[in-house]
Amino acid sequence: MSNPRGEFSSRFGFLMAATGSAVGLGNIWGFPTNAASNGGGAFLVAYLVLAFVLAYPALMAELIIGRHAKANAVSALSGVAANSGTARIGATVGVVGMITVTLILSFYAIVSGWMLSFMSASISDLVRFDSLSDWLTTGSTSRDSLFTLLFYFLTISVVVAGVKNGIEKWASRLMPSLYLLLIILIVYVLTLDGALEGVRMYLVPDFARIADPGLLLGAMGQAFFSLSLGVGTMLIYGSYVSKRENLPALGGMVTLLDISVAVLAGMLILPAMSVAAFNGIEIYDEQGGLVAGPALIVSVLPALFERMGDAGILVSLAFFTLMVIACLTSSISMLEVPVSYVVEQHGASRKKASVALGLLAALISLVIVFNFDLLFGFVVSLTTEYSQPLLGFFIAIFVGWIWRRDQLLEEVQQGNPDCENTLFWRIWPWYIRFVCPVIIVAVYVQMIL
Ligand code: PHE
Repeated sequence: MSNPRGEFSSRFGFLMAATGSAVGLGNIWGFPTNAASNGGGAFLVAYLVLAFVLAYPALMAELIIGRHAKANAVSALSGVAANSGTARIGATVGVVGMITVTLILSFYAIVSGWMLSFMSASISDLVRFDSLSDWLTTGSTSRDSLFTLLFYFLTISVVVAGVKNGIEKWASRLMPSLYLLLIILIVYVLTLDGALEGVRMYLVPDFARIADPGLLLGAMGQAFFSLSLGVGTMLIYGSYVSKRENLPALGGMVTLLDISVAVLAGMLILPAMSVAAFNGIEIYDEQGGLVAGPALIVSVLPALFERMGDAGILVSLAFFTLMVIACLTSSISMLEVPVSYVVEQHGASRKKASVALGLLAALISLVIVFNFDLLFGFVVSLTTEYSQPLLGFFIAIFVGWIWRRDQLLEEVQQGNPDCENTLFWRIWPWYIRFVCPVIIVAVYVQMIL
């Protein structure tokens, strides 16, 4: 094909891009509220265990296949297959992954649109455009459509510019700012009255909940979603990594950075909620559970910021900027999956592919915006709780059972010549063959029973 493949220009660039993909709504919004409504510290423990024994090995499988094949998920998975039957299954897993990630993008962009409109509202508050702020913070199909499309515009603009000049460049600029904003916000919120109750809610484990089937399914879905697994995102990012890099070490860093943002975000969101409660804002819903879902970020937190007076405008601006950054560095990695496929497989130009596929996802988003109650929750649960872990299962089977072990080792040894004698090589192949598939099946079985 005439299109030369992109490559990350540095280790830092890859780390920022992959961490940028991993860190998103899943960490800052999903994780803290999931933890709070599922036994606090108990969820945290389940999540940490699953992240290391399940998600890290699955992430490595994707990075290794990707770098070996230097291709999109569909050709990579069919390429490592032993015969035409398994090649067809591989290609199907790649295609289903591509459909799944497009659906994830379609709901993700709607929520990202809210973040963008609340960020704009803080700016409009600063200049006292009150009626504009009201419109920006009140849910309506017109506002949601407009800001979803705006968010697509940003996403497409970065992906059009390519791996090095788009994805890597923006992730390297945005991710350090995200860490900085997060730390500043935590320090500030922890100084407010009522914050400690939130820390307690978050960290004190209710171990009675650990046997709850919903807890484990939730923690598994969370781990897969948070590390962007199963759908070919990490596979394609792996395919842009140079052969000189040590993959197990890079994957480990991405996992740690991702987990650290989730754990830190818990120290921001839950204390912020208890500060809100302290100020008389309702943080429990009718069923007595903590407000999670859309209401948390678009009503509880804004109500809190409003009570802080002028300082609240700046805190709100910082918070929603943080969210927009987290969303954008994830959405570009989602769009990259189908774009890389169409460019490599069908010889399309990156520009045309990014615009056409971005617009297709935008169209699906608009269908969801106009049928929100019917479709939103359904698409979220279908893609993140079912499709992602299931695809992860198949990828584990491919790497563990179908791909030839000598080729696998050869790939990991690039950039890590001593690999055969490392702890990683002693443990990981077993994990990907047995532990990962069994855990995924067990969590589903436990759910059905
Ligand atoms: N990991 C992202 C988050 O936590 C979501 C994501 C899922 C990104 C799948 C890419 C692919 O928000």
